Amino acid sequence: MQKKYSLLISTLKDNLAECDSLNKLALIKSQYLGKQGKLTLEFGGIKDSKLSERKELGQVLNNIKIQINSLIDKKSESLANTNKKGQLNFFDVTLPGRNISSGSRHPISITINTITKILNNYGFTSVSGPEIEDEFYNFEALNIPASHPARDMHDTFYVTDNKLLRTHTSSVQIHTMLTNKPPLRIMTPGKVYRRDSDPTHSPMFHQIEGLCIDKDINFCQLKGLLINFIEQFFSKKMEIRFRPSYFPFTEPSAEIDIKFNNKWLEVLGCGIVHPNVLKNVKINHKQYTGFAFGLGIERLAMLKYGITDLRIFYDNDISFLSQFSVLK
Ligand code: DAH
Repeated sequence: MQKKYSLLISTLKDNLAECDSLNKLALIKSQYLGKQGKLTLEFGGIKDSKLSERKELGQVLNNIKIQINSLIDKKSESLANTNKKGQLNFFDVTLPGRNISSGSRHPISITINTITKILNNYGFTSVSGPEIEDEFYNFEALNIPASHPARDMHDTFYVTDNKLLRTHTSSVQIHTMLTNKPPLRIMTPGKVYRRDSDPTHSPMFHQIEGLCIDKDINFCQLKGLLINFIEQFFSKKMEIRFRPSYFPFTEPSAEIDIKFNNKWLEVLGCGIVHPNVLKNVKINHKQYTGFAFGLGIERLAMLKYGITDLRIFYDNDISFLSQFSVLK
């Protein structure tokens, strides 16, 4: 007899172990103690048993009933203290606070901010331009006609026959000069696109272009500005050289190299705005001259922070990005 009831208790325990809500518990309770419940039926069977056994059977069943009630009560209590996810609802105010980590600026944004702050002190204001460009703004007006070999240097993504993803921010020079009268001092940080991908090139990267159009602008002013700019950016004296170069939109043109670990690394291109560019935007090139420069932001950030693979900027790796959280 005892064995039969211990099986009843152990099945109840199994049922309770699986039970995860008060509703289910009520159902279990009725399966054991309800009108047609397993134990209730056992009680009903007392009258059919031998007279001599009835008393003992009654006592055994009462004990089982007490056990069942207590198991169900305990379960009911633990369900009431547990939320849906199975965690205790108990709130311990003495626990240490949980750290809420905050986001931070991306190193590329930090670098853009650093650059624009420095240039802003020299009177340059930030402007932006479209990333999908007509060939006119990206090439023609910048003195790069269709047949020009310089177009091959820009591995261009074309959107339609004459619309493309801008290959440099120099295109914003044209927008600015067509809609504003000189004197002008602008800088244009933004994304540019080229079909190129390796540890030091990504198909999308950032450039900043600077343009100054005024009377009596000369190469010495450009040189002075860029040397100061580079030293402020790296917060130290740098070994810098200007190397003669060629860009269709500036004449003369130069590239600036800076010395890192005993190697000369090219960081930007610059020059005096080509008279053809001024003609293309209807600025009198006899009255006005100008200088322009363009630099790659990832390149400068890599040098400043000692990063060797540019692609890490776009991996969204929190352990990399969070190292920059103290910077603004
Ligand atoms: N647009 C050039 C490039 O993407 C960079 C550049 C060179 C910009 C010389 C300039 C400049 O304004 O004068 O490679």
